Amino acid sequence: MKRKKVSIIVSSDSGYRGEREDLSGPVIREIMEKEGYEVGDIEICPDDLDILKERLCAIADRKEAELILTTGGTGFSPRDCMPEATKAVCEREVPGIPEAMRAYSMQFTKRAMLSRAAAGIRGTTLIINLPGSPRAVRECLEYVAPYLEHGIEILTGEAQNCAR
Ligand code: MTE
Repeated sequence: MKRKKVSIIVSSDSGYRGEREDLSGPVIREIMEKEGYEVGDIEICPDDLDILKERLCAIADRKEAELILTTGGTGFSPRDCMPEATKAVCEREVPGIPEAMRAYSMQFTKRAMLSRAAAGIRGTTLIINLPGSPRAVRECLEYVAPYLEHGIEILTGEAQNCAR
């Protein structure tokens, strides 16, 4: 089976302005490299709906990656709009992945319920939001990462059925 590509987008005004070092993107990179993915650049964007939508569309439509993992911008702050950007560009929602992450994360912190993370499909690219902190990224991503490749293979037509 072909090695899958993953792009990383960080939604953070302070990270974009260079006021805060991004520690979450590198956690995503580490986990996904262990999972056997080819990990592309870590792109730091401001919490801006139009910019986030444009970046998601560009990666998906140019088929630069089969998977986009985003971090940050899923909370209640007025500028948080990563789920809105994701839902706006996706043709189909994938609620099960954020549902699973939230349910699993409740054992670590009840504040997990405060993440509005979404996931969906645009073309042949799966987009998944993760919360912003490096700890939250690790807790959420290590739990779901092993199951993403099967979904991507069904999405791209590389696998035709779910038989084991
Ligand atoms: N999920 C896990 N697994 N671990 C965490 O520490 N933090 C929560 C939640 N999800 C957290 C988590 C908190 S405190 C918030 S406010 C929301 O994610 C939204 O985070 P974001 O705005 O950085 O995306």
